[in-house]
Amino acid sequence: MKKVVVKLENVSKSYVDNKFVIKDLSLEVYSGEFLTFLGSSGCGKTTTLRMISGLEHVTDGKIYINNEDVTEVEASKRPVNTIFQNFALFPNMTVEKNIGYGLKMKKVPKDKIKKRVKEMLELVKLEGYEDRLPSQLSGGEQQRVAIARGLINQPEVLLLDEPLSSLDLKLKKQMQIELKNLQKKLKITFIYVTHAQDEALKMSDRIIVFKDGKIIQEGTPEEIYNHPNSIFVADFIGDSSILEGKVIEKNKTFATIYLDEKTIIKTLIEDMELPNDINENDKVNIITRPEKIKVHLEKKENYLEVKVKELIYNGSFKRLNAIYNDKEIKINIDIDDRHNYEKDETIYLELDKDIVVLKKVEHER
Ligand SMILES: Nc1ncnc2c1ncn2[C@@H]1O[C@H](COP(=O)(O)OP(=O)(O)O)[C@@H](O)[C@H]1O
Ligand SMILES: [Mg+2]
Repeated sequence: MKKVVVKLENVSKSYVDNKFVIKDLSLEVYSGEFLTFLGSSGCGKTTTLRMISGLEHVTDGKIYINNEDVTEVEASKRPVNTIFQNFALFPNMTVEKNIGYGLKMKKVPKDKIKKRVKEMLELVKLEGYEDRLPSQLSGGEQQRVAIARGLINQPEVLLLDEPLSSLDLKLKKQMQIELKNLQKKLKITFIYVTHAQDEALKMSDRIIVFKDGKIIQEGTPEEIYNHPNSIFVADFIGDSSILEGKVIEKNKTFATIYLDEKTIIKTLIEDMELPNDINENDKVNIITRPEKIKVHLEKKENYLEVKVKELIYNGSFKRLNAIYNDKEIKINIDIDDRHNYEKDETIYLELDKDIVVLKKVEHER
């Protein structure tokens, strides 16, 4: 059984005028996991994190940490630390004082603080930086100081609010790996907030996708990527291409989906993500990913006939964008594929069997 460290029970939050930015949110965080709250700007990630840390009151609902109701417990008494988006280092304190701050507040003896700070500096690979001021550090080094400060008093849970968003791409990629490794090594529960889907996929044990103050899907990175439960999630995660069709036949083993008079997809149901609630005559959305499409130059049956829009060189692969009935389809092709793909050239697409099919609902998005 997984141990639950943090639990939110029907939590709602309104800052002003009964305008709820978090709506009846319930979730559980397991001990030792790397959990990510993923969602676009304004969906309530920071608000949720601040309610867990106690920096923000809940309007309704309860928050538990280690089965104890902490809803009314003040921030400093909760076993959690936060790493803020802008690092929030004390500008006039040295690295050593910044990192040791939490222990000093707890009146830990000086020599013990010094020892712990040294351990932390080793952990984040900043040995010898004790006497520098934040202004004398690069963005990446400041980030490490913030991490060391957040970890020094061994919190049960570390809350990280978009901690890598201000770093340049190369450093960001390096810190993603370092943070993930650090979390694995220390086995501290991380609740990580980001709007960047690639970061979430790379780092997390589990992802909770937020939309408008609500959970829209939760699961492992693989589940979220391969089995999006909605157009919203499919669109948000990865480069999806979304087509519309209609199920014209469905029996125990085969489903046939009609796209247009030239294009009918017939496939084994077990190869396809066809949920049980989809029946004959239902309109569906078909979601494909760039790496799940093969390009053919000759006409084939049951393949999508499309027109080339553009070919973009991308380093390790080429991205081909094609148009099918006004819809753009994104395809990855091999770097060694020397075909020119002229604009408006007709090509034929073979969709991988494990396309995702979702029942079409009214007022989607
Ligand atoms: N202190 C505040 N007062 C009023 N509204 C706020 C406050 N903080 C955040 N909000 C609003 O709450 C919503 C969620 O914000 P936030 O939790 O910061 O989202 P995210 O971190 O996902 O970008 C937004 O609409 C934002 O404008
Ligand atoms: Mg935020």
